[in-house]
Amino acid sequence: MASSALICGTEAWNDLKAHVEEIKKTHLRDLMSDPDRCRSMMVEFDGMLLDYSRQCATVETFEKLFKLAEEAHLKEKINSMFSGECINKTENRAVLHVALRAPRDAVIQCDGKNVVPEVWNVLDKIHDFSEKVRSGSWLGATGKALTDVVSIGIGGSYLGPLFVHTALQTDPEAAECAKGRQLRFLANVDPIDVARNITGLNPETTLVVVVSKTFTTAETMLNARTMKEWISASLGPEAVAKHMVAVSTNLPLVEKFGIDPNNAFAFWDWVGGRYSVCSAVGVLPLSLQYGFSVVEKFLKGASSIDQHFYTAPFEKNIPVLLGLLSVWNVSFHGYPARAILPYSQALEKFAPHIQQVSMESNGKGVSIDGVSIPFEAGEIDFGEPGTNGQHSFYQLIHQGRVIPCDFIGVVKSQQPVYLQGEPVNNHDELMSNFFAQPDALAYGKTPEQLQNENVPPHLITHKTFPGNRPSFSLLLPSLNAYNIGQLLAIYEHRIGVEGFIWGINSFDQWGVELGKSLATQVRKQLCSSRTKGEPIQGFNFSTSTLLKRYLE
Ligand code: F6P
Repeated sequence: MASSALICGTEAWNDLKAHVEEIKKTHLRDLMSDPDRCRSMMVEFDGMLLDYSRQCATVETFEKLFKLAEEAHLKEKINSMFSGECINKTENRAVLHVALRAPRDAVIQCDGKNVVPEVWNVLDKIHDFSEKVRSGSWLGATGKALTDVVSIGIGGSYLGPLFVHTALQTDPEAAECAKGRQLRFLANVDPIDVARNITGLNPETTLVVVVSKTFTTAETMLNARTMKEWISASLGPEAVAKHMVAVSTNLPLVEKFGIDPNNAFAFWDWVGGRYSVCSAVGVLPLSLQYGFSVVEKFLKGASSIDQHFYTAPFEKNIPVLLGLLSVWNVSFHGYPARAILPYSQALEKFAPHIQQVSMESNGKGVSIDGVSIPFEAGEIDFGEPGTNGQHSFYQLIHQGRVIPCDFIGVVKSQQPVYLQGEPVNNHDELMSNFFAQPDALAYGKTPEQLQNENVPPHLITHKTFPGNRPSFSLLLPSLNAYNIGQLLAIYEHRIGVEGFIWGINSFDQWGVELGKSLATQVRKQLCSSRTKGEPIQGFNFSTSTLLKRYLE
């Protein structure tokens, strides 16, 4: 396939279009009756097990999907990413989040320069700074230890670190390292988020980390000014030097804001915001909370998946298999959404993070060459931890719309509870659901089964479950820092694979610009109306009416 041609014009794509019609003729419960098929749809890596046998797919489907990967030059695209080529063409940038977690002695070239030493310079600086703060050798302006951190940032400068923090919070090893400390995240420009974050905090013991790749994001900068004022009002303006640090690619703007450049932690334009958890964006606040050694384990976990993704044959490559399955479900079965269902409360912020990584990356309408694509790309992602989700939206998943599901389970609980006299422990109870739900979705329940159970005839259709609903199950050995890093990298690369196959640019985000620039116009209007009493003008009838009501 020529690089500018659309993937939907290839033989492999058309072959899959025809093949899906064949697949639709066989119910998943029948596919599941073949143990050889099921065995071939399991992959083990580093203690984790992926079972994707509950997909409406056969061994032949995968042969065809691998052909599609070949047509899409998937291997070449992965290699280009790892070798620092400028694959984010619309922003003229390389895409090197893998360099953020590469071992110290790795060599990853970008623009003729090995970037790994720069990465480790920043990691070493974070290590040093976080140890100083944690040990009390870096003190606040009044001589008190800085035990509390507020990380200000939004989107990619917030969601990933929040997911990792939430997952580490209940890991016994990490929790031990975090004793006596707290980490909060201020994202929304809504003053309520500011109020929530400062409630119960003492400026004397608080360190504020301003996280913004561009250092221009309106919400983050307003929140940063608000927190600067909160510190200055209480401790005096000189205290800012001890109480505020920054993470950014835009160090001149950090300095202009009034933060000492020595207290700024850099990253690079080859790191996309939503792929920046492993840069100082996540590593700084998380190291302040848990210590660098815990965060290093997280980076090692992510790196282990990078190596797996880069080297494993596609048939054994977890991110590649999951990416191909997404393409299969979205573009051939026509399922627009997917549910991310971790059976672990510690992963409650995983789906919100993946929503951004996936939907900002792959929610595109044109190919990387700017040609309109005549097929749907991207997925609608949502999710909740099990079992909570079961009591919320699973009704629709079982009997309403078909939503492919990602079941993520953990063998060893972070916080096991054994109650005397209970037949199973609490984690077993949770995991019973993890094992049951995928089969309920796949097999369903037939009218015949219901009749045999003497269900009254008028309830038969209500109680019928169609089944034939795809899912995969990913079983992790535990949920420590290392496994959390692995889970992150699996999804990052899976989303990359989807974009590589669809032939879109998964690494830009032009779709967020229009709303931002319209908000700038509204902001100007609000300002001139409030300060000079100028009338509302330049907006349509509807927006003008709303604005007038707001200003009344
Ligand atoms: O609005 C989307 C976005 O541009 C994301 O891609 C990014 O993660 C977020 O805003 C925050 O940007 P910054 O880190 O530059 O403040």
